[in-house]
Amino acid sequence: MVGIFDSGIGGLTVVRELQKKLPKYDLIYFGDTARTPYGTKSKETIVKYALEDAQILLNRGAKVIIIACNTASAVAYETLKEKFKVPVFEVITPAVRRALELTQNKRIGVIGTTATINSSIYEKLLKEGREKIEVFSAACPLLVPLVEEGWLDTRETKMIVKKYLHPLRTKSVGTLILGCTHYPLLKKIIQPRIGKRVNLVDSAEEVVKEFQQFLKDNPKIDAELSKTSQAKYLASDVSARFQNIAEKWLSKKVELERVDVL
Ligand code: DGL
Repeated sequence: MVGIFDSGIGGLTVVRELQKKLPKYDLIYFGDTARTPYGTKSKETIVKYALEDAQILLNRGAKVIIIACNTASAVAYETLKEKFKVPVFEVITPAVRRALELTQNKRIGVIGTTATINSSIYEKLLKEGREKIEVFSAACPLLVPLVEEGWLDTRETKMIVKKYLHPLRTKSVGTLILGCTHYPLLKKIIQPRIGKRVNLVDSAEEVVKEFQQFLKDNPKIDAELSKTSQAKYLASDVSARFQNIAEKWLSKKVELERVDVL
């Protein structure tokens, strides 16, 4: 089974992509909805939560872990990689690679949670990846709660997105990294507000591409993953709202099981 976790529903953007590209692979998802958001918390707390989240998935038989959360990827990836024996994937380097491929004017915008932006990881990796890259970052702390609340298309959300994107728009970014797995749920309102011609890089799409390539390169590990098109969804708090968004986003019935965090 492929184990995927996020602080809440954002990682479902990775689930959707995985089900599109690798529909046979069994997966188990954990959304830490009781403790979301992570992006406003300290590094220590995020690392502790991420370790617990991964352990829940491993206890249920996950053979690989995808950290479907930029915040946890930014601050906890190294710790998870060291601690667990299974392959661990994060969402940041695949998005960086894609942004560097796409950029023409070398002006790249990054939006994410406060923890992700404060980690400066995107800026560091983008600048290491290519010379003369200019990076413009904006923390957008209100977007995760708005998505978790299901306010995907409200006037208020549109106004907030516009306000967050304004400084990046004035810098004429040609490529914008959606540096939070919740943000693809807002793609339709982000695109017109940053500019029709700006390339959006979706970390969910990029991590799945990376994972597909990994499976090709590692047939032994691929063979260990069960392929019966099953999906299991766990959450630390189960609510009707979570259920609704999950079913809408995945276009299927989703049965949520509540699990206690360790
Ligand atoms: N989806 C998570 C991310 O990619 C949200 C983080 C949060 O809970 O603040 O960063």
